[in-house]
Amino acid sequence: MKSCNLELTVSAESIKQALRAVRHPVASSSSLPPPCYHEEDWFRHEMERVFRHGWLGIGHRDQWKMPGDYSAINVGNIAIAVVMDEHGTLQAMSNSCLHRSSRILSGKGRCRAMVCPFHGWSYDYSGQLVSASRMENTQGFSEKGMALKKFHVATQDGFVFLSLEENPDTLDQWLGDFSDRHACWSLDDLVTGRQRVLDVDCNWKLFLEVFNEYYHLPYVHPDSISRYYPEPDPTDDVIGEYTTQFGSTTANPALLEENQGCSLPRIKSLGEREKTGARYTWVYPNMTFAAGSDCLWMYHVYPLTATRTRAVQTVCFPSQTTRLPEFEATSEIYYSRFDIAIHEDIPALEKQQAGMESPFAVQGRFSALEPSVGNFACWYASVTR
Ligand SMILES: [Fe+2]
Repeated sequence: MKSCNLELTVSAESIKQALRAVRHPVASSSSLPPPCYHEEDWFRHEMERVFRHGWLGIGHRDQWKMPGDYSAINVGNIAIAVVMDEHGTLQAMSNSCLHRSSRILSGKGRCRAMVCPFHGWSYDYSGQLVSASRMENTQGFSEKGMALKKFHVATQDGFVFLSLEENPDTLDQWLGDFSDRHACWSLDDLVTGRQRVLDVDCNWKLFLEVFNEYYHLPYVHPDSISRYYPEPDPTDDVIGEYTTQFGSTTANPALLEENQGCSLPRIKSLGEREKTGARYTWVYPNMTFAAGSDCLWMYHVYPLTATRTRAVQTVCFPSQTTRLPEFEATSEIYYSRFDIAIHEDIPALEKQQAGMESPFAVQGRFSALEPSVGNFACWYASVTR
């Protein structure tokens, strides 16, 4: 009997082979091979190479205001807790209990101690085990010196980053000239207006890619936002693990056309050109935002599985804006713009994911309107091959 040629499982080796066609300049590059977006073995490889090296964006610093404020994050199968300690310092640690490995914290909130819901083992804000009841007869057991594994945390420009690597390069090295390039948006002064969580049936890369390209706008957003996004500048030549592209707009890109009269005050430090436009930035691997003239809308993206993604959307405004009497009502008008656009993107992403999973899906090419996606692909190919 003739053997079937349709190999549904593509080996990591053949993916690495295909990644050779991903290169600079983007105009001569192929896109990432489709199995990168769904294949289980490759997902494990990617978790190791992409997520356990360098730095991951995990939120805006004002998510943690008081000692005990925590956020539980899952990066694939890695459970992480980020907690503010009694000195106001963020501590990141493994969120798997030292007893039987249950997840200790879930979601976000404020806690007096980190208490495992399974058998009540309790940890302080630095992850040190402080009490484990009914363990007195267990030979050689002592709470003393037992602590959850710690991870590195660092903050820059108001954004918090985490590294799962033992000895990572500094965050400064990772971000390179990021701060200088975004200086006129006064990122350090921004505060969170609203945050929401979206779980989407697509690979994490697809979510980040669509946010960073203009090509899909007239097709996916024909009646909402596409009209005021003309062709953007090329991507900037940057130093650091990120890509960024500024584009002038013909209206405030943070508002729908019918709400243009509702603009909140502009960020004061903007240059003339930045007053009408948006800078779309993708800090590799998992944080992206658009910096507009009056606010910043951002996504932190976490793989749950190879084909399911959690995207945390945060909208930030200058601190002074949030104190205006009209802020509460007007910010809702901004949020409706972001909600409408993302709920147009999500069905497109889920269709794209379905197509990617076909054994007949092929490696594509990039349009001139997708340079950030191409830059990311080159970065990704270099760290995974
Ligand atoms: Fe979109």
